[in-house]
Amino acid sequence: MPLTLVHDIINMKTQIPHTPLRVGIVGVGNIAERHAQGYLAIPELAQITAVADISPQIAQVKAAQWGVPVWYPSLDKLLASDVDVVDICLPHDLHVSAAKAAAQSRKHIYIEKPLARTARECIEIYQAVEQAGVFMMVGHNLLFNPLMTKAQALVTSGAVGQVFMIRGASYGWPPFRAGNFRLERAKSGGGVLIDTGVHILYLMRAMGGEARSVSATMSHALRSEMQGEDNALVHLQYANGALGEMAVSYSTKLSTYALGFPDGWDQRIEVYGTDGTLKVDLVRGTLQIFAEGAESHPILANWAVANKKLQGTTLFELPNVYFDSFKFAIHAFAQTLLSGGPSPVSVSDGYRVMQLVDAAYESAREGRYIHVSQG
Ligand SMILES: NC(=O)c1ccc[n+]([C@@H]2O[C@H](COP(=O)([O-])OP(=O)(O)OC[C@H]3O[C@@H](n4cnc5c(N)ncnc54)[C@H](O)[C@@H]3O)[C@@H](O)[C@H]2O)c1
Repeated sequence: MPLTLVHDIINMKTQIPHTPLRVGIVGVGNIAERHAQGYLAIPELAQITAVADISPQIAQVKAAQWGVPVWYPSLDKLLASDVDVVDICLPHDLHVSAAKAAAQSRKHIYIEKPLARTARECIEIYQAVEQAGVFMMVGHNLLFNPLMTKAQALVTSGAVGQVFMIRGASYGWPPFRAGNFRLERAKSGGGVLIDTGVHILYLMRAMGGEARSVSATMSHALRSEMQGEDNALVHLQYANGALGEMAVSYSTKLSTYALGFPDGWDQRIEVYGTDGTLKVDLVRGTLQIFAEGAESHPILANWAVANKKLQGTTLFELPNVYFDSFKFAIHAFAQTLLSGGPSPVSVSDGYRVMQLVDAAYESAREGRYIHVSQG
């Protein structure tokens, strides 16, 4: 099947569910905790009414911890229950089957990034979701980090002028215990690129639009326990002529303990335009912008009161908001589903990002630029 365009908005054929949404989380390992805190913060919109995990012990413990009345040892049992929403926090290789099964059971879906292991799997998900007419949001959570929503508003309102270059990066050494799905290429779909590069790619897409070609080089430098790459450098040529560059690494040794990231973590986005430069440091919680004409820019002019102006540069500081992106994303999901709006991060968005990931892996294998189909 050719990788053809998938349309942008899923029209819900099913009824908008009642409020609060009854949410079932499947795969209650690491990241499910962040999702749970997101739902627990909005009981008027959504409540976790069941959880499921292949490990009954984990399911039972999490259900008790979050005050959830019911737990199941499988997705099938969760799908047979009366939940309105299935929140998929499973290893990457299970995304496609879980999303298809959830759609076929007429459940609305929140699914963790990456949407699937390949763009082709994303199309399978799209077809199931479209056929069932259910609502799906992909967990591109860093888009909901308040620094990134500000950055996006600034860039799209022209604060730095015409964007000609975007750089993104993520560095660290997250520890993976034996049995972690990220150690196996077949389960994760690759290495650091598909796991964390996806975050940086969707941020770079939000800033620069679609890319028309991709090139990449990758290495397996230090993490012998991982089958996939632990370093990747990716170049993008955007459809509008801008250039993009991304570096992602799981083999970087850093000291960010004092910032609340004991294992070392550093993530940045830089946007260069004809009128200025914007830089976001996600871990330190800063957004710095130099913009010619800042005084008359509708957003920047209002910032002048609350923020420091240092020789023409506006520095916006919002420390300790890194993990809030999950809460904001889940709030957006519940609110949009209940109001019948288009998905804040659609299946198409997940697919477009996975096209870039596919192209980067292909480029690294073949040593050439890969054209990205916009069809
Ligand atoms: N947005 C982010 O910043 C972020 C961070 C971490 C993980 N993630 C994503 O979240 C997803 C899960 O990652 P994680 O780190 O939580 O993984 P994890 O391994 O900690 O948790 C996965 C859970 O799924 C359960 N599971 C496995 N197979 C199952 C099955 N067949 N049926 C039911 N349960 C099953 C496991 O027992 C485990 O509890 C991945 O897509 C990952 O990329 C996103």
